[in-house]
Amino acid sequence: MTPQTSQIAARYRRFATTEAAGQAPLYEALALAVAASASACSFLAPLPANRQQPNLFLAALRLVAGRVIAPEELEDLLTEKGADIAAVMQTRTTQTNEPARCATLLPALAQIQDQTQRPIALIEVGASAGLCLLPDAYGYDWGHATLPAPPSGTSPPVSPVPYAPPVFACKTSANAPLPRQHPDIVWRAGLDLNPLDVNNPEDVAWLETLVWPGQDARLARLRAAISVAQAAPPRLCAGDLTRDLAPLMAEAPQGATLVVFHTAVLTYVQNQAARDRFAQDMLNSQAVWLSNEGLRVFPQYAGPETPRHADKFLLLRNGQPLARTGPHGQSLDWIDQVG
Ligand SMILES: C[S@@+](CC[C@H](N)C(=O)[O-])C[C@H]1O[C@@H](n2cnc3c(N)ncnc32)[C@H](O)[C@@H]1O
Repeated sequence: MTPQTSQIAARYRRFATTEAAGQAPLYEALALAVAASASACSFLAPLPANRQQPNLFLAALRLVAGRVIAPEELEDLLTEKGADIAAVMQTRTTQTNEPARCATLLPALAQIQDQTQRPIALIEVGASAGLCLLPDAYGYDWGHATLPAPPSGTSPPVSPVPYAPPVFACKTSANAPLPRQHPDIVWRAGLDLNPLDVNNPEDVAWLETLVWPGQDARLARLRAAISVAQAAPPRLCAGDLTRDLAPLMAEAPQGATLVVFHTAVLTYVQNQAARDRFAQDMLNSQAVWLSNEGLRVFPQYAGPETPRHADKFLLLRNGQPLARTGPHGQSLDWIDQVG
């Protein structure tokens, strides 16, 4: 192996042992097979570093093969279908859309509506297919409280087509301000570098492929959320959150409280100065800004990182910590506000 392919091998070994282990045994085995294969690492070497990502490669292999391949099939598949796999890796990115994150966002949205006494206008930056733009269409089970989904066709988005909304379970601390009803969202729009279309079968296949193998319940909830969105897709605009947000914000209706939010997005803005400029723009705006990101995205708001919280996201409202959240929306630990 060359120094470059050795680095790639180390990245895949790290992915196998720290991310896939215990979560997706098939991906763990396949990532270890990539790490051990000089030809697989050489296949990845010419790609830009952000396209050498394990999640992207494993999803591309799966999409092209139509299933998760066994480790011993890896080299043959690369020989036979290498061009197709490379094409997927050049054109697709990891745009995992996780609607379960709405379970961690909904209390913050409801609180904003309560405090401002106005309905919500919602913008999501980095919206992918827009599934997190529909928090008022899903059901929630926070453990000690539940909020059923509105019946299909009766709530925003008003749909002529019946659908079965998902219910997202989220292990939630007792102090979280859980709403008894969905917030009133009167206007919504998303911005993404590459919006995905829930009514385009190829985009839907890619979204489904990004769910790790074996996570069947998560896949079922994703499909249910897609069916909600297919009935009345939220408006999505192509654009870069660091440049193209202001005109969209200007479209929000005056009588509503504008909330701009993002989850698992700012980590893709590699330059910290650009992230900080975005944060400053948000703080200088009239909008309420909700950020749900890994702890290192905005270290200035995160406080000291403790090992107990290292794998959690931090939910911020205008830079103030509100909660620590499971990265896939699986938990919500509300932070008591001081003063
Ligand atoms: C991991 S997905 C998260 C999607 C969604 N927020 C969720 O939580 O399910 C990240 C999304 O951010 C988008 N993205 C990354 N950088 C962006 C930028 N500078 N401007 C707009 N969108 C961006 C990607 O295209 C992708 O769809």
